[in-house]
Amino acid sequence: MAAQAANPIQQRVYTTSSGRPISYATASQRLGNNGPILLQDFHLIDLLAHFDRERIPERVVHAKGAGAYGEFEVTHDITDICSADLFSEVGKKTKVAVRLSTVGGEKGSADSARDPRGFAIKFYTEEGNWDMVGNDTPVFFIRDGVKFPTFIHTQKRNPQTNTKDATMFWDFLTSNQESIHQVMQLFSDRGTPLSYRHMNTYSGHTFKFIAADGSFKYVKMHFISDQGNRTLNLEEATHLASANPDWNTQDLFEAIARGEYPSWTFYVQVLDPKDAEKFRWNIFDVTKVWPHSEVPLRPVGKMTLNRNCQNYFAEIEQMAVAPAHLVPGIEPTADPMLQARLFSYTDSQRHRLGVNYQQIPVNQPLHAYAPWQRDGQYAINGNYGADPNYPSPLKPITYKPVDVNQQHEEWVGRALNPQNFNEVTDEDFVQATGLWHVLGRQEGQQANFITNVSSHLFGADPRVRQRAYEMFGRVDKQLGSKLEVATEHIVQDASKNKTDEIVARLTARTK
Ligand code: HEM
Repeated sequence: MAAQAANPIQQRVYTTSSGRPISYATASQRLGNNGPILLQDFHLIDLLAHFDRERIPERVVHAKGAGAYGEFEVTHDITDICSADLFSEVGKKTKVAVRLSTVGGEKGSADSARDPRGFAIKFYTEEGNWDMVGNDTPVFFIRDGVKFPTFIHTQKRNPQTNTKDATMFWDFLTSNQESIHQVMQLFSDRGTPLSYRHMNTYSGHTFKFIAADGSFKYVKMHFISDQGNRTLNLEEATHLASANPDWNTQDLFEAIARGEYPSWTFYVQVLDPKDAEKFRWNIFDVTKVWPHSEVPLRPVGKMTLNRNCQNYFAEIEQMAVAPAHLVPGIEPTADPMLQARLFSYTDSQRHRLGVNYQQIPVNQPLHAYAPWQRDGQYAINGNYGADPNYPSPLKPITYKPVDVNQQHEEWVGRALNPQNFNEVTDEDFVQATGLWHVLGRQEGQQANFITNVSSHLFGADPRVRQRAYEMFGRVDKQLGSKLEVATEHIVQDASKNKTDEIVARLTARTK
């Protein structure tokens, strides 16, 4: 009882950060009524100095996001292809933390921006954290990680004007035309999902599932929204960007608070290594999907989000997901984008959160014992006490045998030849054309696509616009020419573009 009374946190007694009770909390100490402030006022200095350091670097990409907690339950037995502990039996439940995001905008940017959406899941398994860091599109703009930093630069701000720049944006995409499949996704209404609850997520990359006998299969992962996949059109998305820039964030939080828990069904596409070598599509090329007609979806389980965070910064901003956080039974492949990602995330997190980022509660694995990692800033978890900080026979450590299957390194196909991999051929347009035809079967979607592209592309340099018409012409001749007509129309008559009407009026007022 006495100990409880002495604890200011339980009593909610206001103190400095050093625990000294403070009664003058809303006034600074001054020399007389109107005199200067005293240096001895530690309460004031403590408060200001902490405030001055409140910001940490935002994520270099995916800075704006929302998150929640939930659980994953296995509904179908996949132990024939995967030995990962979290899939070990039907009915097994694993706690998850999830972060959903846009990619290109800063931390305060609008949720309804045309952008892929990130969807990162941290599974707290008995054998470590497994992070499935995916997007709501099954493909990506590039297929070699060496292009990622320059690609992202072009989607963010111009280094001189510090504004978004349509020329940079399209210059990159049209000079790296392996992007076409993802560009088709992005500029369809799929590029502006209705909410985080109404979108799917995909691993994009091919991973390996390792079976108990050490054999492996190639897999792509899909989490399909049980709420349905719904989208916004350009007008709706543009309106929300100003009327409620936090639309998706608010929707997710309020739905969970109401008890309407969103869920996703987890499926895998499974390819035998022998079939993969003969497969039409390079399985290490993240710009390609595996057609469902050839590689069907196999159900695995269901993920439900059922709890909001108590503190956004502590739990969501400080969450650190990384494709390198894998568990026994799930391994990376030789996909060069994935290989680059295996390095980049944790590197970024050490910069963003510090070297001991895994000790932040939301990132803590259920059971981690890594006593050779010592010290560093914010070593808050006891720092492994007096245990040896080197492998010592005096206090031996137990090692659990884990099967690691490296067979993919024996791959003999053309996938690993960088020159072949970077060359863009007609093959790169086949799936994009397929998607154009899919949009043709959905009412109004081809027309929306043309509006979505032209209302963005019109701001680009004429040479870049021309290259874009040629690129879309390789998807479908008519698409190329329709886009040219629509875009050049806006260029010549800005008043035809609704948003621009207002911008033109305001520009006139600045003169
Ligand atoms: C080589 C290519 C890529 C590189 C180098 C890269 C790098 C990064 C980095 C450095 C972050 C910030 C991490 C942090 O500070 O916590 C990040 C975030 C993210 N990336 Fe990538 N990325 C790449 C491609 C991709 C792809 C292909 C996907 C989806 C399949 C993806 C999905 C995400 C998601 C969802 C986040 C946000 C994670 C969160 O919510 O904390 N990235 N990426």
